[in-house]
Amino acid sequence: MPLLPSDLAYVPFVSVEHMMGLVHHLGIERMLRDLADEIEADFKRWELFDKTPRVASHSDVGVIELMPTSDGEMYGFKYVNGHPKNTKDGLQTVTAFGLLADVDTGYPKLLSEMTLLTALRTAATSAMAARHLAPKGTTTMAMIGNGAQSEFQCLAFKAICGIDTVRLYDIDEAATEKAARNLAASGLKVVTCKSGEDAMEGAQIITTCTADKQYATILTDNMIGPGVHINAIGGDCPGKTELHRDILLRSEIFVEYPEQTWIEGEIQQLEKDHPITELWRVITGEAQGRRDDKQITLFDSVGFAIEDFSALRYIHKAVQGTGYFTKLDMLADPDDPRDLFGMLNRSKG
Ligand SMILES: NC(=O)c1ccc[n+]([C@@H]2O[C@H](COP(=O)([O-])OP(=O)(O)OC[C@H]3O[C@@H](n4cnc5c(N)ncnc54)[C@H](O)[C@@H]3O)[C@@H](O)[C@H]2O)c1
Repeated sequence: MPLLPSDLAYVPFVSVEHMMGLVHHLGIERMLRDLADEIEADFKRWELFDKTPRVASHSDVGVIELMPTSDGEMYGFKYVNGHPKNTKDGLQTVTAFGLLADVDTGYPKLLSEMTLLTALRTAATSAMAARHLAPKGTTTMAMIGNGAQSEFQCLAFKAICGIDTVRLYDIDEAATEKAARNLAASGLKVVTCKSGEDAMEGAQIITTCTADKQYATILTDNMIGPGVHINAIGGDCPGKTELHRDILLRSEIFVEYPEQTWIEGEIQQLEKDHPITELWRVITGEAQGRRDDKQITLFDSVGFAIEDFSALRYIHKAVQGTGYFTKLDMLADPDDPRDLFGMLNRSKG
């Protein structure tokens, strides 16, 4: 008679199918708002988290990264890759999964897909930052790079910042058409543009979300007028940036975790003594966000482990009492904790 795993052996697992079900069950805009609030609440307790730049393994074509953190009660990590060449082979640029564990026992409490969750948490973080930095009454966003992340960004800025118009541009027209199609029923006014310059027209928020392994110049200095907020999320690896250095010199720069952003963000183009502000300090009121309507604010986002931790903890709570997870037989649970070998022996034949 085969031995059945005990309850302690099981870890809830949220698959891609479950994640999609949960998003539809809650509603994507509600979920983006909830995630923004969870992430903002954790940015307020920034100092108590364990923090380290992510552990990156680079190759010529991409990167594989581990992103750990802990608030002392729970521990979380995400595995994520970034391979800009993947879409040509029918693969995604970014895929991810993550785990949440109990610090007291070290036992995993949740394993989850994080490809969709990364898109949701990145968009929620971007819009949460813009809530503090963008000019008030902003209605139009330019969205440069219309790949996998782009619709999530557009919807988060609608749900969290009240954007009603998005101006889409991508070097690949098919990507822009895809994004426009996906956003057709979103309630946003969607304008497709033929150039980056065209996309800027009337936009008070500019999001760059492109993927290229090389230093790229998606925005040049002449494209940026006074008073705009730039949400730059595509530059997130050594040698992978999106903005011309002159834009950085004219902007007030806000970052997640400086130790990681100096390695991966737009600011890798600057001298190490250039002034930058940590976003969490703005959120706690310790530092000033936007000063006036002429200032250019730049959120130089690379994505930090605390955002994934907040997202995993949110999913852990959200799936309780629902069918949006399965139980994975993931932990060995012998009757006598020291008799692991005996458990193996007894399982024979
Ligand atoms: N900051 C964060 O937290 C975070 C999180 C997730 C992804 N990212 C980054 O965001 C970027 C986009 O991710 P994705 O999953 O949407 O990638 P994707 O490959 O699906 O889409 C990227 C799009 O950028 C377009 N593009 C490339 N060069 C361009 C240019 N010069 N001008 C206009 N468009 C251009 C491509 O045609 C493509 O449609 C990646 O670099 C990824 O690493 C950052």
